[in-house]
Amino acid sequence: MMPTLKKKFNGKQLKRYKNVQDFIKPLLAGNWKMNGNVGFWRQLTREIAQSTLDFDTVDMMVAPPFVGVSTVSEEISKAMGTGLALGVQNIHHEESGAYTGETSPSLLKDFKVSYAIVGHSERREMNGESSVDVSTKACASLAFGVTPIVCVGEPLDVQEAGDTESFILRELAESLRGVFIRRADQLVIAYEPVWAIGSGKAATPHDIAPVLLSIRHYLISKYGDIGSGVRILYGGSVKPENTEELMKVPHLNGFLVGGAALKAESFLGIADKMR
Ligand code: 13P
Repeated sequence: MMPTLKKKFNGKQLKRYKNVQDFIKPLLAGNWKMNGNVGFWRQLTREIAQSTLDFDTVDMMVAPPFVGVSTVSEEISKAMGTGLALGVQNIHHEESGAYTGETSPSLLKDFKVSYAIVGHSERREMNGESSVDVSTKACASLAFGVTPIVCVGEPLDVQEAGDTESFILRELAESLRGVFIRRADQLVIAYEPVWAIGSGKAATPHDIAPVLLSIRHYLISKYGDIGSGVRILYGGSVKPENTEELMKVPHLNGFLVGGAALKAESFLGIADKMR
């Protein structure tokens, strides 16, 4: 069991921070990964944006592939007054220049992008992104008013060795190096155990709870009171059927969803259970 950091807070402080949790509006973020086409993105955005769900109780965001950003942005504008926000799955840290194949937060200005997922395990693994790269991307997003969703997650061998919390804290500290915020809503953390992604087997509340507590302690130790309000998401095989159980985990403030975000019914089904 972890938390060396826990010792930094007395019971009264912890209780105060726990109360803050009741006021955090949860975020449901859909990562569409490399799926769909123009017709699909248009239709899915329409169905989510026009749903009768109360966006006042749950924030919702969808992150299409870059080529879908324009389409989704257009659909969101058409659904006037919808609370649905737009995100991207990656970002480049420079503003512009000779970076073939890359997209900067500055290029996204016209599309009203609110969130950028950075450091997803699939990019860390397949594109060789290091935590240093992730922190640079998070800084660039912030500089352009785009909220970074910084992803961390341990691979199966780390989990089996019982080293999850120290792995996550190290990855988090490195990914947030130089990342400074003035408000809690400028940053989101997503905890996605690599072994739970796309496996159909979500981590259990028992697996998740100590990790989220460690993340919360780390955020408070780095950002002070602001850190108690930074949203921490869980990701990995989330679906409507396991949402309620997962929502009970302390310090969990929403989800980053892959497969179940590709159908309006399941995505909205999750949102419904989060209220
Ligand atoms: P699944 O919900 O398909 O497991 O994917 C999770 C994920 O990687 C979201 O970023």
